[in-house]
Amino acid sequence: MARIYLVTSYKGGVGKSTVSANIANKLAKLGKKVLLCDLDFDLGTLDLLLGCEDRMLFDICDAVYGRADAESCTVKLGADKNLAFLGAPYRCNDETDPEYFASRIKELAKDYDYAILDTPGGNTVTLQAARLCSDEAIVVATQNPASIRGAEKTADSLAEAGISSRLVINCFDAQSAENSSRAGILSMIDSTKTPLLGVIPYDRTMMFAQEKGVLSDGDTFISSQAFENVVSRMEAALTHKRPVPVLYKVRGIRRKKVLTK
Ligand SMILES: Nc1ncnc2c1ncn2[C@@H]1O[C@H](COP(=O)(O)OP(=O)(O)OP(=O)(O)O)[C@@H](O)[C@H]1O
Ligand SMILES: [Mg+2]
Repeated sequence: MARIYLVTSYKGGVGKSTVSANIANKLAKLGKKVLLCDLDFDLGTLDLLLGCEDRMLFDICDAVYGRADAESCTVKLGADKNLAFLGAPYRCNDETDPEYFASRIKELAKDYDYAILDTPGGNTVTLQAARLCSDEAIVVATQNPASIRGAEKTADSLAEAGISSRLVINCFDAQSAENSSRAGILSMIDSTKTPLLGVIPYDRTMMFAQEKGVLSDGDTFISSQAFENVVSRMEAALTHKRPVPVLYKVRGIRRKKVLTK
């Protein structure tokens, strides 16, 4: 049975899809079988991030409502084809019942090690479905104050529903944290009241690579190691091993300086 992670935040544009795609990619590279689902039915873009838009014959609704078999609906990615992707429909004509949808996601995920559900900002029916079937949530926030408040509210509301959250700080700018012009890591943990899973630096190279359907892999990307740390920490939590530090080997960030703010 897959462990299902909901990637969420009420605030839009904070990097939920970026984090979802890269976590899924890194887990697959560790040899895990991963199902990545795009639950943003208004403007799903994960297929573009993964560079597989031309290979999507069916979408997640076709899989959920049985219009095609699950195997044909997933796009297999990665050298070992460990990453299976279910894309969002271009237009959704199905009446989505969150409970049914959630039960189908669980069934579709049963042969995988992990399922990563990328959701839109706001309280959509697909977010409700994702909340019903997730084991844990990854709440994404940037140093922007509105995003921090969004993350706090998201984690509060998940806690009320009995879902535990961990925080991923995305687009992290170390310099502004060091000189206190923007929120630092400790203050974000405190404000959101959410334990820290990872810190992903602002990575301009990744942003441009994404536009060509290329994920953050290798030394060209300062975020690549940070995503590796996130999945290593996810694995460690499940196996009760000691996790690597969040900023382990991440270039360009002085740990001692940013971890005092
Ligand atoms: N760590 C990062 N460094 C630089 N740019 C980033 C980073 N993370 C995300 N971005 C950029 O920020 C933009 C928004 O990212 P993304 O689409 O992942 O956000 P989102 O939360 O999924 O948005 P939405 O709410 O619309 O679904 C994209 O252009 C992406 O390339
Ligand atoms: Mg998105």
